[in-house]
Amino acid sequence: MAKYVAAIDQGTTSTRCMIFDHSGQVVAVDQREHEQIFPRAGWVEHDPEEIWRNTRQVCAGALANGDLVDADIAAVGITNQRETTVVWDRKTGEPVYNAIVWQDTRTNRIIEQLGALGGGQERYRSVTGLPLATYFAGPKVKWILDNVDGARERAEAGDLMLGTMDSWVLWNATGGVEGGLHLTDATNASRTLLMNLDTLSWDPEIAAEMGIPLSMLPEIRSSSEVYGHFRERGALAGLPIAGILGDQQAATFGQACLRPGEAKNTYGTGNFLLLNTGTEKVMSRNGLLTTVCYKIGDADTVYALEGSIAVTGSLVQWLRDNLGMIGSAAEIERLASGVEDNGGAYFVPAFSGLFAPYWRADARGAIVGLTRYVNKGHLARAVLEATAFQSREVIDAMNADSGVELTSLKVDGGMVVNELLMQFQADILGVPVIRPVVNETTALGAAYAAGLAVGFWGSEDEIRQNWAQDKQWDPELDEKSREKHYTSWKKAVTKTFDWVD
Ligand code: G3P
Repeated sequence: MAKYVAAIDQGTTSTRCMIFDHSGQVVAVDQREHEQIFPRAGWVEHDPEEIWRNTRQVCAGALANGDLVDADIAAVGITNQRETTVVWDRKTGEPVYNAIVWQDTRTNRIIEQLGALGGGQERYRSVTGLPLATYFAGPKVKWILDNVDGARERAEAGDLMLGTMDSWVLWNATGGVEGGLHLTDATNASRTLLMNLDTLSWDPEIAAEMGIPLSMLPEIRSSSEVYGHFRERGALAGLPIAGILGDQQAATFGQACLRPGEAKNTYGTGNFLLLNTGTEKVMSRNGLLTTVCYKIGDADTVYALEGSIAVTGSLVQWLRDNLGMIGSAAEIERLASGVEDNGGAYFVPAFSGLFAPYWRADARGAIVGLTRYVNKGHLARAVLEATAFQSREVIDAMNADSGVELTSLKVDGGMVVNELLMQFQADILGVPVIRPVVNETTALGAAYAAGLAVGFWGSEDEIRQNWAQDKQWDPELDEKSREKHYTSWKKAVTKTFDWVD
């Protein structure tokens, strides 16, 4: 009997395959980074073919690392960086352009033009739950069709397909030009600005306004069902692919935030805070998104409120790669621990404009409060504090939207190994911060979705039982200092506005 479930996690900086046992423990992993392509300021691309190559390699690598064979695996789940979009030719399988990444701001003009049709940023919110912003997939497709030679004609002739990275991976994994499945799940579809949140179907009027032929769109399915099987060549051959969730929704599932009112914050390239609102869709008035949290088979759709922050962990990478200030991401904690505080410096990383709760494409990054007193340690601290302050902003918005005060915060993702950051997060929120034993919640969530579909896990209760706490940080800062610090941050944010026309 197969004892494990595999999950492919196609993330912003790397692709991983992780294999889990029934208790939700990781038994094997393999990971490959892919190139980040920055053709111009504000543009971010990935090579979809490199990503598919990496996907195949990490699937084989994880099996080899765990000394496992295909027959040990009951099912495969897919989770992915959301919104990043690729358009490809259905006959040749070739992408017509690089994937345009969620962080990319090139669609700013398109956004303005669509907003000018009426309603501005709120134009599609009542249907899609989203503000009109560069972050989402639909306008990226419009940009490709408007700017790649011949793309619009080919799309209108029915020769092109579009997809977020889940669809790209699934289509290739299930055979590509030899009958690959062109599907997505409701969580990923809810990030396109093209899906009706109530019916979970594409909205033909919005697609028409963006000039996107409906024939390009994948079919929308649930997050947990057997979609098809891995092609008969290579690792995982013939295994059922049975779960698809956008990575942040997968992390919410993996953190067992399965009841209304339960929330998690993932500290990755960016930060994404999701609050499960149950089968009720809560429309935000404070700069958050309404999104599909998950849909398990035929069960009712579960929704979430989300606070998306574009740049948190990627600021640490920027410090390492662009400035050479640290040799590795882990070094930042040591550097920041060498000083008492931020020395008055605040770093607002508006590299992709500002996402929640501001949604300002015109913002650009700023370091403010500098004096000759400020040194590397203070800047390292300001970098870490930026993550915590931005999280506080989305939690304030969430409390206001939901009318319920968050009493603790479950956290996961790469940055939660940083003790200084976790303590500061608790200090600046004024509530405890809790890290689970299995921090790989994104891949775990996709594995759970796939495992539920094939009966490897029997119910959501089993998932809840698998969750266990590793560590808790309690607030230590007094309220007066906390609010003083936060007020300075808010002031710093205002210095990033109006940098792009
Ligand atoms: O919405 C973007 C998000 O899904 C990216 O997540 O973990 O790949 O940075 P991550």
